[in-house]
Amino acid sequence: MTIFDRRTSTVRLSSRQSRLNLKHLTAPKDIHHDFGIDVVEGLNKFPKSIPSKYFYDQLGSELFERICDLDEYYPTRTETAILQSYAAEIAAITGECELIELGSGSSTKTRILLDAYRDRGDRLRYVPIDISGSILSNSAIALLSDYPTLAIDGFVGTYELGLQHLPQPHLPTRLLCFLGSTLGNFSPDECDVFCDRLAGVLQAGEYLLLGIDLQKSKSVLEAAYNDRLGVTAAFNLNLLRHLNYKFEGDFDLTRFEHAAFYNQEQHQIEMYLRSLGRQRVNLRSLDLSIDLEPNETMLTEISRKFNLKHLARDLESKGFRHIRSWTDPNHWYGLVLCQILPLR
Ligand SMILES: C[S@@+](CC[C@H](N)C(=O)[O-])C[C@H]1O[C@@H](n2cnc3c(N)ncnc32)[C@H](O)[C@@H]1O
Repeated sequence: MTIFDRRTSTVRLSSRQSRLNLKHLTAPKDIHHDFGIDVVEGLNKFPKSIPSKYFYDQLGSELFERICDLDEYYPTRTETAILQSYAAEIAAITGECELIELGSGSSTKTRILLDAYRDRGDRLRYVPIDISGSILSNSAIALLSDYPTLAIDGFVGTYELGLQHLPQPHLPTRLLCFLGSTLGNFSPDECDVFCDRLAGVLQAGEYLLLGIDLQKSKSVLEAAYNDRLGVTAAFNLNLLRHLNYKFEGDFDLTRFEHAAFYNQEQHQIEMYLRSLGRQRVNLRSLDLSIDLEPNETMLTEISRKFNLKHLARDLESKGFRHIRSWTDPNHWYGLVLCQILPLR
C-alpha cells in the first residue's frame, strides 16, 4: 500500500516503509510553470533550443533505457564494464558510505556499486535524485526487493533542488555519483558553476565519482547518436510530443527530423530537431506561436566529450583532490574519483 503525505509531498510504501522515502521536491504545478518559462525562453531565442531535462517524461525515460542497449551506444556498456572491474577498489578507498546519485534513472549501474559495498558487509543507504518520478519510483521499488537491507531516501526533482535537500548523513562518509556522462549535458560555463556547487555541498573528506565520455573519433561518436534503429531519433522527437501534451501544442512530429553531429572544435555532440519546411507551431496554454523556416533547427542537447587530464585539473581548481581515474582498453570512457579537501 502507498501512503502519500500531502503536507511533505512524501511517499512511503507501507510494506517496506521504514526503508523507502520518496519526496517530490516541487508541486506538479510549479514544475509545469518552470517548464513553461523555459520553453517560452528557448523557443523565442535564435537559434531556438529546448532544455534537455525535458526529454524525461515516462516515455522519454523508457526510450533512454532502450538507447543504453543499442549496439552503437557504447557509453553505457563501457561504463558498466569499468564499474564491474573497479567497484571493489572504489569501495575499499571510500569505506562504508552513503551513495547519493544525481540523475539516477534506472539505477542499473549503481547496483554494481551497491554490490561492492554489500560484499564488504557495509550498511547500505542510497539517495537517488531524478527529475523523472516514474523511473525513480520504479527503480527504488526494484532495488528494495533486491537489497533487503538497503534504505532509500529519494528525491524527485532537479539536481539543484535535490542537492539543497540532502538528508543528514547516517554513515561515516558520502559518495556523490554522477554517472552516464550526464555532466556533458552542461555547457562549459554551466559545468563550472555545477562543479562549484558540488564542492560546496560535500563536506571535507567526502567523495565524488564522475562517469564521463571521452574524446574519440567522429565516426564512433556520430554513430552512437544516429543509431540504425532510430531509437535516438524517437527519443529526440518525443520531446515535441511532451510539449504537445503539456502545453496543448500542435507540433506535427512528421514535419521534424532528428539530426546529431560532432562539433570537433567544441568537442561536443549537438542534437537538434530540424524543421522539414516552413511551419507555424502553437502552444496554446503558453499563448505562444513560433514560426520555423525550412531546415531551421532547435538545439535539444549537447553531450560534451572530455579529456580526463583536463577534467581532473579543473576539479582540482574547485577544491577536489583527484584520487584515481579508470578507463577502458580503448580509452573511450572514464570514471573519476575525487575527494573534497578539508581546507577551501
Ligand atoms: C543521461 S540519463 C542517465 C541515467 C543514468 N544515470 C545512467 O547513467 O544511465 C540522465 C538522467 O538524469 C535525469 N535528469 C536529466 N536532467 C535532470 C535534471 N536537471 N535534474 C534531475 N534529473 C535530471 C533524467 O531523468 C535521466 O534519468
